[in-house]
Amino acid sequence: MPRAARVRIDNATCVLPDGTRTASVLFERGTILDIDPAPTAEADEVIDATGLHLLPGVIDHHVHFRDPGLTHKEDLHTASLACAKGGVTSFVEMPNTVPPAITQAEIDHKLELASQKSVVNYGFYIAASTDNLDALINAKRVAGIKIFIGSSTGNLYVDDQETLEAIFAKTALPICAHCEDEPTVQANAARLDGGRTVHDHSRIRDHEAAIRCTTRACDLATHHNHRFHVLHVSTAQELDIIKAHAGVVTGEACPHHLWFSIDDYDRLGTRIQMNPAVKNREDVVALWEGLRSGILCAVVTDHAPHTLEEKAQPYPKSPSGLPAIENSLALMLTAMHDGKCTLEQIVHWMCESPATIWDMVGKGRLVPGNDADVILVDLDRRHTVRDAEQVTKCKWSAWDGEELRGQVVRTIVGGVTVFEEGRFNDSHRGSPIRYGYEQA
Ligand code: DOR
Ligand code: ZN
Repeated sequence: MPRAARVRIDNATCVLPDGTRTASVLFERGTILDIDPAPTAEADEVIDATGLHLLPGVIDHHVHFRDPGLTHKEDLHTASLACAKGGVTSFVEMPNTVPPAITQAEIDHKLELASQKSVVNYGFYIAASTDNLDALINAKRVAGIKIFIGSSTGNLYVDDQETLEAIFAKTALPICAHCEDEPTVQANAARLDGGRTVHDHSRIRDHEAAIRCTTRACDLATHHNHRFHVLHVSTAQELDIIKAHAGVVTGEACPHHLWFSIDDYDRLGTRIQMNPAVKNREDVVALWEGLRSGILCAVVTDHAPHTLEEKAQPYPKSPSGLPAIENSLALMLTAMHDGKCTLEQIVHWMCESPATIWDMVGKGRLVPGNDADVILVDLDRRHTVRDAEQVTKCKWSAWDGEELRGQVVRTIVGGVTVFEEGRFNDSHRGSPIRYGYEQA
């Protein structure tokens, strides 16, 4: 799969900002040059995509790739291959690596690691700690600031009101947060003796924990008029909170909260143990409605791999989190076939919105001038998810055994094919995502 200077994709049904139609797309050296170029426009390579859909590459701005420090679970190379297979051309990775990404030096180290290991484009968040305000104020080359207002995997946890006020008041980058109220979680855990089975996970990390913390964080954001994004919304009630703060606050949903509820613990056990915990059937229905109504604007995975051995430990020793990066688009396409959403909504939630939320330059839409990060998708092709076939290093999926309809056929990053019909072009390396604030 060599790199051709000029590539034209013909006959694909393209999801363009102004509608979905058959078009030709021409790109040159990593940039989209033209949509429907003149028939005389020359190209070194022509791809006939008859029967396929051309979409902007998926941007997943919420992933945990474990590199550095926890690379027995995943690393930037294996994760990036899983991205390529799933149609994800850019990711933004969370800071709960080891050591945690709380300094500019650690951010620059992760950027360097990704430049060596990742076949897709990459970006990172800097985490708030209790005493790194200066690093947050001066942070460069990051998408934004992540705050764990509530503890999760790792020990990044900021709950002190004064510290939170200072972060919202003094920093300029957009902020996102994991919202689960720690005192509520601790009180529930004490009442339940720490929890005996995985069912207790949703009683400990309950509705109230999520609602309280999301309320608190959204109030801070509005008070300081600071762009804020609520990560992995899990309850119906949080939708009302986000709606009340529209304009300053945005929110996302993850496939696991859109697919699973407490009714699935008997079947899937700790595979669906994650933070925030899954909630009720009614919450699942409400999250879909929240997406369709526009209260939530993005679908991202929170890809959080742990080994099956780690997951097999008895609750509450079992860690929270599940992998999904190579399945998220196929899951959403399957949901589309089930009548839950349209293809254009999927492109909005998985491509356009992440680019907009983090002000990425040249991403998220098929328009001339944008980066040639595109995917060819067969909307009808069926495949069954199998643990053993997962590219993620942890080699399992909560959707093992599920038949999905809709599959990525080819993934192109910066004009270069990195995945095609099950084969990887492992020699390509992605580029760092660029942000609007860097252009100023
Ligand atoms: O379930 C989760 N796992 N939630 C998080 O917030 C972190 C993640 C992880 O890193 O394992
Ligand atoms: Zn996460």
